[in-house]
Parts: sequence; C-alpha cells; structure tokens
Amino acid sequence: MRPRIEELNATNCKTYLVTVGERAALVDPVRERVDTYRKVLSERQLHLELVLETHMHADHLMLNRAQKDLLGAPLVMHTSSPSPLVDRHLREGEEIRLGEAILQVLHTPGHTPDSVSYRRDSAVITGDTVMIGGSRRCDFPGGDAGAQYDAVTRRLFDLPDDTVVWPAHDYKGNTQSTIGKEKRDNPRFLGKTREQYIDLMGKLGLPFPDKIQQALQVNQSGFEPEEVVFPLVAEVAVVPPIAPNDLASALRGSSPPLLLDVREPEEFVGELGHITGSLLVPLDALEKRLPKLAGYVDREVVLVCRAGARSASAGAILTRAGFAKVKNLEGGMLAWRDAGLPTQR
Ligand SMILES: [Fe+2]
Repeated sequence: MRPRIEELNATNCKTYLVTVGERAALVDPVRERVDTYRKVLSERQLHLELVLETHMHADHLMLNRAQKDLLGAPLVMHTSSPSPLVDRHLREGEEIRLGEAILQVLHTPGHTPDSVSYRRDSAVITGDTVMIGGSRRCDFPGGDAGAQYDAVTRRLFDLPDDTVVWPAHDYKGNTQSTIGKEKRDNPRFLGKTREQYIDLMGKLGLPFPDKIQQALQVNQSGFEPEEVVFPLVAEVAVVPPIAPNDLASALRGSSPPLLLDVREPEEFVGELGHITGSLLVPLDALEKRLPKLAGYVDREVVLVCRAGARSASAGAILTRAGFAKVKNLEGGMLAWRDAGLPTQR
C-alpha cells in the first residue's frame, strides 16, 4: 500500500500527514497547531505511530515534552540532532516502517547538520534542503552550503524525475514540485558549480527569522523559557569553540579546564557516555549552580552536550555571569566520539 501525503497547515510552514491505511506519521509538526493535528487524527480514526522531524527548526516551536507524551508517538530525527527529546536517531540509508510502507532516510545536510529527507517510491519530503525554485539558507550554526549543494545535486537530483517534492516551506504559494522540474528550473542550482553555489549562499545576507530567539534554543534544549533563562542568540554565537582533539590535549596539560556537561542525566550515562572528570549540570540547573562554580570564574571552563548547541547556550549563560574563559566543545559528544576519543558511561 502506498503512503498518502497531505499538508495540514496551509501556511508557508508545512506539516505533512503521511498515512498508510489507519497508520499515520506527522512530519515537522508545529507546536501551536497540535490541537488541530489531534483533531484530524481522531476524526479520521488514525493511529499516530511516528513524529518525524526533517531537521532542527529555527523558525517555529517544535513539540515540547508534554505534547510529545500527549501524542504518544516516538520522536524521530537524525543522529546529529541536538535535542534530548529524540526517541529514535536516524542514519543515512535507514528505513522507517509505517504499516506496510517503508520510508527511506536520506541524510541531506547543509541547512543544518541534522537535515534529512524522507523518501518513498514516488515522493520525497525534503525539509529545508531543496525548496520549490530555491533552497534554504545555510548560515545557521552548523550550516554548510557545500554540503547542501552535494545533498541536492548528488542525492536528491539522483532520484527519478517524476518524484514529487514536498518541501518544509514555501513562500510563493507553491505546494509541490518534482525532481525533474527542480533539476530543469531551480535557479539556485541550474548551471552552478559547487563553488558558485557556496559563493551565492554566502552573500544572501538574510536577517534572522523573527522567532529565532523564541524557538531555536527552546527546540535545541527541550526546555521551556520558564525553565531556562536563555541568552540572546547573538551571545550564543560568539562563545568560542574548542575542537575535540584540542580539548583532549588541554585535559592532559598541567591545568586542565573544568568540564561542565549540560545534558540530561540519562544522556550522561547513555549511548554517547561522557568525558572522564566531567561535572554534570543539566542546562535547567545551571543558573542556580552558578554560586557553587564561583571558584572557576577566571579559570578555563569547557561546556559539553550532545551536539554543541545546548552547551553554546550554557557558555553564553556563564559568559554573561562573568566567567572569563568559557569554551564550547564543538560538535559535542558526537564529535568527541567521532574523533575516537575515550568516553565513560
Ligand atoms: Fe529550517
């Protein structure tokens, strides 16, 4: 049986309902519309089996913990997602079963490191990778225009021409396209080399989305603004990074930095483990732990999390509180593991 795809929001920000018989998946649900989705599911007697995200969003609020529990379906994202709310982490080429149908996962990074496209035989949900007649910006943290060019031209444009394209956004009133049409007409890619595309994307000069301050750190951390006083996105952006191998060297030195791991306790002892000697202070507890960390205001402190997003927020919180030598482990424990460095669980 072929899955059916419908768009539920009728705005420029798209949420797709994918159904196979009475089994359903929601792709990129928007927090303020959850009641509408629940109504649709209940009226049509659909059973929600999966919540799929195409990537970490900066322009709208994703589901919070309570909504996720209310919907009762696992949250599925690429393994490089920074969010602690993800129940199943995906990798390139993995398959997702929805009833009798199989959705194939294509890792299509560039807009964000965790961008994926979900493909079935004749359709692909492309998230913010390729849009109809365009592509999404690559200037958020972790964005990479070259990776996006490769994802679109080598992965998506390799799909059959009649594959229907369902993007996460459209600002021109379009609803769907095909791979063939995008290959023929999309001005972002038509006749462009990889270098020309990188140059073009670097010069877009777009303002941050209106809701980035309200949405991005909330989505990345899984916490609400009443649980964490989030710093400004601009403050987060200037926290200096430290690469995993440089941190490993510093830890072997005569005055090693304090390692503050701001993940949840279950992540600290979970799949990725933690760096030996780290102090666990979950992001929502950081503010009230500051007095106890006062001895470190002039010493080097390195913040650690899953992918380097929550730790960047934590770094900005410490900087604002007067800590002078704050750094962020670039790419988080995912990058630490990928560098082959030792962990403890
Ligand atoms: Fe996006």
